[in-house]
Amino acid sequence: MDSKQKEGRYNRIAEQLRELLRKDGDIISKMSTVTAVLHGKMPHFFWTGFYRLVGDKLIAGPYQGPVACQTLDPAKGVCRACVSRNESIIVPDVSLFPGHIACDSRSKSEIVVPVHDHCGNIVAVLDVDSDRLNSFDECDRGGLEKIVRLLSGV
Ligand code: SME
Repeated sequence: MDSKQKEGRYNRIAEQLRELLRKDGDIISKMSTVTAVLHGKMPHFFWTGFYRLVGDKLIAGPYQGPVACQTLDPAKGVCRACVSRNESIIVPDVSLFPGHIACDSRSKSEIVVPVHDHCGNIVAVLDVDSDRLNSFDECDRGGLEKIVRLLSGV
């Protein structure tokens, strides 16, 4: 899929999710819907899901794909770096990211996007893994950042 096709697909997914996500809906139920739609429609998504920030812990939320770590080591990993930096992180080759947590050895590249509540606090991250190197670019970042904003209605 080239960038133009990918951008079109993200836009259509965002439209569909705008219809599906109830404004007053439960956050876990909304995360489940986002995960199911993204995982079903994006061929390069090998693992798609959320880690929720509960206290200081990152705990697996709704996801699709191979079984993943339930709680992430608090001292390392791409998801933790996303929370600390409060920005999306694209990892073209996970073997080159110091401290990367490999829940499944088939994951080769990754993107992690912070999820904020309506006050701007991070409540979770959306994590997507691919089984190929270099699968994510600025188009994925833009598309996924737009989609996670639908969760809090901002
Ligand atoms: N790779 C992540 C851990 C979660 S799995 O990719 C599903 C990390 O380094 O934080």
